Amino acid sequence: MTHKVLFVCLGNICRSPLAEGIFSGLVDEAGRTSDFLIDSAGTGPWHVGNPPDPRSVDIAARHGLDISHQQARTVTAGDFDRFDVIVAMDGDNLAALASISKTPRAEIRLLLNAPPMDVPDPYFGGPEGFEDVFRLIRSGCEKLLSGIA
Ligand code: 4NP
Repeated sequence: MTHKVLFVCLGNICRSPLAEGIFSGLVDEAGRTSDFLIDSAGTGPWHVGNPPDPRSVDIAARHGLDISHQQARTVTAGDFDRFDVIVAMDGDNLAALASISKTPRAEIRLLLNAPPMDVPDPYFGGPEGFEDVFRLIRSGCEKLLSGIA
């Protein structure tokens, strides 16, 4: 059975591309590549068509992951039926998702299920914020994968 997982943040250039790359890497390491369809999207339109932020590409590369091929897109109505689980990086994006679709087939949830709950938006901060974001996302993705049988 294929598990279809969509990661969502605001711009789809910082956090959710990292989540897509990190989760894909964990799935590959677990030998479960063919069991998953993994994607990411944003609730905001500003960066559609762009590659991930260079700071995300850089932190991913330093952990052995190449996310440079990704292209930002917005969440679409079809995503709520096509994906099994839609994973928001923070409460604002969770609320945005809930307001886009009133009757999703997908389970809509936060990535983190323990404080700080939100993966903070690193866009307007310095590069050190991306290391924290990477660690938070990896820990959330490890738990998420272990919960998908
Ligand atoms: P992301 O970060 O949601 O993690 O991709 C952001 C990227 C861009 C903007 C905000 C957050 N922006 O305002 O353009």
